[in-house]
Amino acid sequence: MGSVLVHRLRGPLETPRAARGLDALGLDAPLIGRDAELARVIGSLDRACGGAAQLARLVGEAGIGKTRLVNEFVARIRDEDPFAGVAIRHAVCSPLGEQSYGTLAAVLRSAYGIAQKADAAEAEAKVAEALAELGLPAEEADRLMPLYLHVLGLGDPNAVLKHVEPEQLRRQIFFAIRTVFERRLALSPLLIIVEDLHWADAVSLEALRFLMDRLERTRLMLLFTHRPMLELDQFGSGRISHTTLRLPPLSDTDGQRLLAAYFSHGWCEPPGRLFNRILEREGGIRFSSRRSSAASSKPAPCNAMARCGE
Ligand SMILES: Nc1ncnc2c1ncn2[C@@H]1O[C@H](COP(=O)(O)OP(=O)(O)OP(=O)(O)O)[C@@H](O)[C@H]1O
Ligand SMILES: [Mg+2]
Repeated sequence: MGSVLVHRLRGPLETPRAARGLDALGLDAPLIGRDAELARVIGSLDRACGGAAQLARLVGEAGIGKTRLVNEFVARIRDEDPFAGVAIRHAVCSPLGEQSYGTLAAVLRSAYGIAQKADAAEAEAKVAEALAELGLPAEEADRLMPLYLHVLGLGDPNAVLKHVEPEQLRRQIFFAIRTVFERRLALSPLLIIVEDLHWADAVSLEALRFLMDRLERTRLMLLFTHRPMLELDQFGSGRISHTTLRLPPLSDTDGQRLLAAYFSHGWCEPPGRLFNRILEREGGIRFSSRRSSAASSKPAPCNAMARCGE
């Protein structure tokens, strides 16, 4: 048996970084393919900006390129005039699982620039500043503040929620979140990106659904990414427009282009049919033909690069 390099865990990073990809090795590639998907997501945002809220989901296996597509989309719309005023929130669910309201908290943190490690006082100051900017009367802001702190997992410093029944608390929180969404949407279109929804907590999913059901005639776009999961297949709302894009594996030719883009930096002539061998091994072509028909109903993604980074 070969030896395995062992690392000692010291603690979480200040800012989590991507757990996959070859970027850490200094290798990158332009976006290959995915033009149609990118155009459809941009189309959804366009419709949202016109006042018809949209939900778009990017669904695909680990490493297939969901995050990459999201990043390309964000970069693209930042450069385009019609989308100049769009407020963007970007939350990523943790593979360690989210505590109740954790996913919603990530959206709030992104909105108000609250660091993961911020304490209650810091978070309160940021939220208060944001609520004032949204034009919320001071009295209402004070009343809603404990609810935002609860969502952020920062407790209830003045114990004002102590006697609120759980169901009542949930309703108050949904209302408080809806309030900030509505205020924000009155000022500009709003794009909420939630990545890795398969790791979201149940009550955050419920809150997102609640918002979708009530904000269908606003300039809201929700963009979710997740791996294929039965439970999330029905996720959505009967009310707002819903687009699901299932990302297929890159074609063989695109796989070749991707490898060429990665390795053209250092390797002029890849030795020994190397690209083909990587694609054969990781591209799923030969692999999927060996599998039983039941197993092969899910194509193996062409994600050779992604796996290397894990
Ligand atoms: N179409 C593409 N063109 C160029 N590079 C790509 C493409 N798709 C994916 N990649 C690269 O492959 C790696 C894995 O992609 P990505 O992180 O987007 O996968 P993912 O679907 O988000 O996976 P996960 O479910 O684990 O979050 C990244 O380094 C990404 O830049
Ligand atoms: Mg991802």
